[in-house]
Amino acid sequence: MPRYSPALALRNLVLFPGTITNITIGRGPSVLAMDVHLDKKLDLICVLQPDAGLENPGPGDVAKVGVLARILRTLNLPDGSVRAMVEVIERCTLTDFHDTPEGGTCATPGRFITKTGDLKGVQAAEKRVRELAPDVLTMTAPDKPPEALLRALELNVGPERVVDHLAPQVGLVAAESQELLAEPDLAKRLERLVWFLERAREYGILKTRIAAEVQRAMDESQREYHLREQLKAIQKELGETVNDEVSAYEAKIVESGMPEEVAKEARRELDRLKKIHVDASEYMVARTWLDWIVAMPWTKQTEDNTSLHEAKAVLDGEHYGLEKVKERLLEFLAVRQLKKDAKSPILCLVGPPGVGKTSLGHSVAKALGRKVERIALGGMKDEAEIRGHRRTYVGAMPGRVIQALRRAGTRNPVIILDELDKIGNDFRGDPASALLEVLDPEQNANFRDHYLDAPFDLSHVLFIGTANTEDPIPAALHDRLEIIRLHGYIEEEKVAIGERHLHKRLLESHGIEAGHVDFSAAMLQHMIRSYTREAGVRSLERELAAIYRKTARRIVEGDAAPFVLDEALITKWLGPPKHHPELAERTDRPGIVIGLAWTESGGDILFIEASKVAGPRGLKITGSLGNVMKESCEAAMTYVREQAERFGIDPKVFVDNEFHLHMPAGAIPKDGPSAGVAMATALVSLLIGKPIRPNLAMTGEITLRGKVLPVGGIKEKVLAARRAGITDVVMPSLCERDLHDVPQVLRDELTYHFVENADEVWGLAFGADFLTRPAFVKAEGAAVVGAVS
Ligand SMILES: Nc1ncnc2c1ncn2[C@@H]1O[C@H](COP(=O)(O)OP(=O)(O)O)[C@@H](O)[C@H]1O
Ligand SMILES: [Mg+2]
Repeated sequence: MPRYSPALALRNLVLFPGTITNITIGRGPSVLAMDVHLDKKLDLICVLQPDAGLENPGPGDVAKVGVLARILRTLNLPDGSVRAMVEVIERCTLTDFHDTPEGGTCATPGRFITKTGDLKGVQAAEKRVRELAPDVLTMTAPDKPPEALLRALELNVGPERVVDHLAPQVGLVAAESQELLAEPDLAKRLERLVWFLERAREYGILKTRIAAEVQRAMDESQREYHLREQLKAIQKELGETVNDEVSAYEAKIVESGMPEEVAKEARRELDRLKKIHVDASEYMVARTWLDWIVAMPWTKQTEDNTSLHEAKAVLDGEHYGLEKVKERLLEFLAVRQLKKDAKSPILCLVGPPGVGKTSLGHSVAKALGRKVERIALGGMKDEAEIRGHRRTYVGAMPGRVIQALRRAGTRNPVIILDELDKIGNDFRGDPASALLEVLDPEQNANFRDHYLDAPFDLSHVLFIGTANTEDPIPAALHDRLEIIRLHGYIEEEKVAIGERHLHKRLLESHGIEAGHVDFSAAMLQHMIRSYTREAGVRSLERELAAIYRKTARRIVEGDAAPFVLDEALITKWLGPPKHHPELAERTDRPGIVIGLAWTESGGDILFIEASKVAGPRGLKITGSLGNVMKESCEAAMTYVREQAERFGIDPKVFVDNEFHLHMPAGAIPKDGPSAGVAMATALVSLLIGKPIRPNLAMTGEITLRGKVLPVGGIKEKVLAARRAGITDVVMPSLCERDLHDVPQVLRDELTYHFVENADEVWGLAFGADFLTRPAFVKAEGAAVVGAVS
C-alpha cells in the first residue's frame, strides 16, 4: 500500500471493485489531486462524501471505507474540469485525509479485510441474490436489460463479486451502496443486498401493478370513447348521422304525446338503437318500429262539426235520394252528440253493390269534419291483417287498423270497414274475432296490435261497416251492428244520380268543361237500359267514365268543339248494346219460366228451363244450385207428379223420361227456396206443352201440398223485374206488406198477383181454362205404372 494516494471525495456516488466508471472531477483540490496522480502514476482513492453539500470536505467529512481505482484515461474539458475513466481495483480503508502542500487532497489507504463469517449464510444469501437479480434488473431497466451483467452473474463468480456487480445496478441510494461497500462481514453484506433486492422487487411489482391499473382504467373509458369516435367516423362516411337521428326520436317521443308507459318502452328501444350497428338488420327493425310508434296519433284529434244542419247539407249534396238512410244517419249522429260517452253501436250499411254504401261512409266523415280511412276486408284471411305481426317477425307490419290510424293522422277518424260480409276465416286465426275486439267498446280502449305491442285507444274512432248481405256476417259481430238497409235504384233514380252526381264528378275528374258534352236524360236512360243491368250505379259510372275518356281523347287530339251525345256515338264508343229488355222471345216455348232471385248484388231475373228426354226415370238438376235449391226442385217435381193426372197428364211420362231442370248462367251459384213455384210451373209448362204468359215473373217457395210460402228480398226482386221489362209479378200474398217501401212508380207500373197456392199460379200463367182441363183417364187395358200416391 502506498503511503499516500491522491483522494477524490465523490458526491452521490459509490464505486465498487471490478467496475469501470466515468467520473467527472470539477472541484479544485480534486483536480489538483488528479495532477498528482498524473505525475506519479499513483492509484486513486475514491470515497463517498456523505454530505453532498460540502464544498471542501475535511477528514471527518468522508466515509471510512472507499476504493482504490486506476485511471485509464482522462479528458480535459473546456470548463476546466476533468473527465476520467477509472477501473476500480479493491476496497480500502483510508486515514489521514488531508490537502498536500501541492494543493491536492491525499489520504493513506489501508487494507480492507472481508470476513466470510457464516458460510452457510453466505451460500443461502448468494442463492437468493442470484434468484432475485434477473427480475430486479429487468424491472429497474426495462428498456435495456443489462445482458452482459446477467451473463456475468451466470458465470461462476464468487459471492463478493456478485455484490459488487449488482450494487451499482439496482437503484440504491448512495448511503445504501456505502453500507454494502463498508460491510466487512460477507454474509451480512449479502443479506443486506438480498433485503435491497427484495425491496426493489416489491417496488417493481407494485409499480407495474399500479401502472396496469391506471392503464386499465384509462383503457375502459378510452375504449368506449374510441369506438364511438370510430362509429361516428363510419357513419359520417356513410352519410348518416345517428346522433341527430337519436335525438330527433327523443323529441318525437315527447311531441307525440304517447302515454308514459309507451314512452318508456320507446326509450328503451331507442337505447337499444344507439348500440346497434346501422348495418345490422336489427337496426332497421328497431328504427321502423320507432317510426311507427312516434307517428301514431296518440292525442291528435279533430274537432267534430256538431251542426246537424250542416251534416244534412253534406249528405244531401253528395247523394241523391236515400231519404230514409240519410235520416237514420242524422239520427245516429244526434244520439252520439247527446250521449257523449255512449258506447254507440257500429253503423253498418247493407245493400247491393254500387248503391253508395262506401261513399255514404265518406260523406258521414265529411259531415262530421273527420278524417276518413277505408279498410277493405274482402277476402281477408289472416288475423294478423287486423292485429299485425309480432315485431320480431321479418318484415312485420302493424295491422290495418293501426295503419289506417297512422294514415289518418288523428285518433278519431271515421274508419270504413268495407265488405264486412266478405271477411274470411281459415287456419291463420280468425280475422272476424280480431275485428270484434276492435269494435267492442269494452275492449277497444286498450287495443293491442301485435306489432306496436302497446295499447292504443280506439274508442274515439267512428267505425262504419258495409256489407252486401247480412247472412255471412258472424253472429257475434252482427250483434254489435246497427243495420241500415240500402236498396237498388229504379231507373228514374239512376238517371237523376247520373245527371246530378256522376256526370259532374266525372267531368271534373277527366278535366272536361261542363257543357262540352250535351248529354240528355234520354241518353242516360238508354245507357242504363242497354249497357247496365244492376241494382246500383257502378256499371253506369264505369260506362260513363268510358264516354268521358273518349271525349278527353277527342279534345286532346284537336277536336275541341262541343258535341251532342247520341245513340250512334254511344254505340260507336261503347259497342253494341249489352242487354236487351225483350223477354218475350225467350219465354215463347214451353218449359221456360222467369223466376226472381235475390243475390248479394241485388235482385235479378232467373230463367228456369225444364226439359225431358226418353230414358230411365229421374230428375237431373244443373246450374250451380245450392242444397236448399236442389231440395226445392225435388219438392216441386214431387208435387207436379202428384197433381199431373188432375190436369190430364199421363203419369207414364214420369216413368219413361228423365227430367232436367236447368238454370242458365251456370257459373253463378244460386241458392234458396224462392224459385220453387217457378220450377213447378216450368215442369207443368213442359208437360202440357204450353208456354207461359209473356212478361210474367214469379217468386215463392212451394210446399209438398202446393202451398206458396213467402220469401225475402221483394223490393230488390221487383226492381230487377222492372229493369228486365217484366209487367206482371206473381208473389206470395204474405209478401204484399213488403211492397210498401217500393217506390210508387214501381207500384203503379207493374201488376202484382198475390197467390196462396200453386193452382192460382198456374191459372195466371196458363190462363183460367188450365184449371178446368179434363183429368187424365187411363186407357182401357193399359197397365198402371208409376202412379203417384
Ligand atoms: N244516391 C247516390 N247519389 C250520388 N252518387 C251515388 C249514389 N249512390 C251511389 N253513388 C255513386 O256510385 C258509385 C258507387 O258507389 P259505392 O259507394 O262504391 O257503392 P257501394 O259501396 O254500395 O258498392 C260512387 O261513385 C257513388 O258516389
Ligand atoms: Mg263499397
